[in-house]
Amino acid sequence: MSSHPPIRSYVLRQGHFSSAQRHACEFLLPRYGIAFTEASIELNQVFGRTAPKILEIGSGMGETTAEIAAQHPDKDFVAIEVHAPGIGSLLNQIEKRGLTNLRIIPHDAKPVLQQMLIDASLDGIHIFFPDPWPKARHHKRRLIQPDFVSLLCSRLKPGGYLHIATDWEDYAIHSLHVLNSEQRLINTATD
Ligand SMILES: C[S@@+](CC[C@H](N)C(=O)[O-])C[C@H]1O[C@@H](n2cnc3c(N)ncnc32)[C@H](O)[C@@H]1O
Repeated sequence: MSSHPPIRSYVLRQGHFSSAQRHACEFLLPRYGIAFTEASIELNQVFGRTAPKILEIGSGMGETTAEIAAQHPDKDFVAIEVHAPGIGSLLNQIEKRGLTNLRIIPHDAKPVLQQMLIDASLDGIHIFFPDPWPKARHHKRRLIQPDFVSLLCSRLKPGGYLHIATDWEDYAIHSLHVLNSEQRLINTATD
């Protein structure tokens, strides 16, 4: 049996972890977080309503995530992030803005998608500025890979969308190639 550790798309950096972010992780995570579980979850039940469900992978410090959720109260948003300061920052924004349509899963997106989210359960997926991993020897860590995109497509409802943005030309070209190779996707942006 192979015992290779999984190739991760992130490295947990130390970075600055403010007391407000630490406090949020301790006290707000139980309220606005969804704990990782190996069993699938029912998102309509989590939010207590039937509404479109949008997943964001790698919400970073969460400003864009919170702003989009505030502007679309008719939709429910689930953010996935592994970086503790970012998780704390987003939790504080959810609390401050009183957002009832945004939750965070503090875990690696891959097992979350594989185990928690069921097929055809998402209306949209956002991946904004994923880590570019510019060095050739690190390209295998890039999130946008054929297997991962295939997993994303399985979790999207028919007609659902995948919105990816990057400001790294080389990653954009790579992503375009991977996305164009996925039969279930139609490119609605210009190349
Ligand atoms: C370059 S940052 C971009 C953050 C944000 N989307 C933005 O535009 O500012 C990429 C983020 O993705 C997160 N990330 C990378 N791989 C992840 C994974 N497998 N699961 C969850 N988060 C991940 C990192 O921790 C980091 O916060």
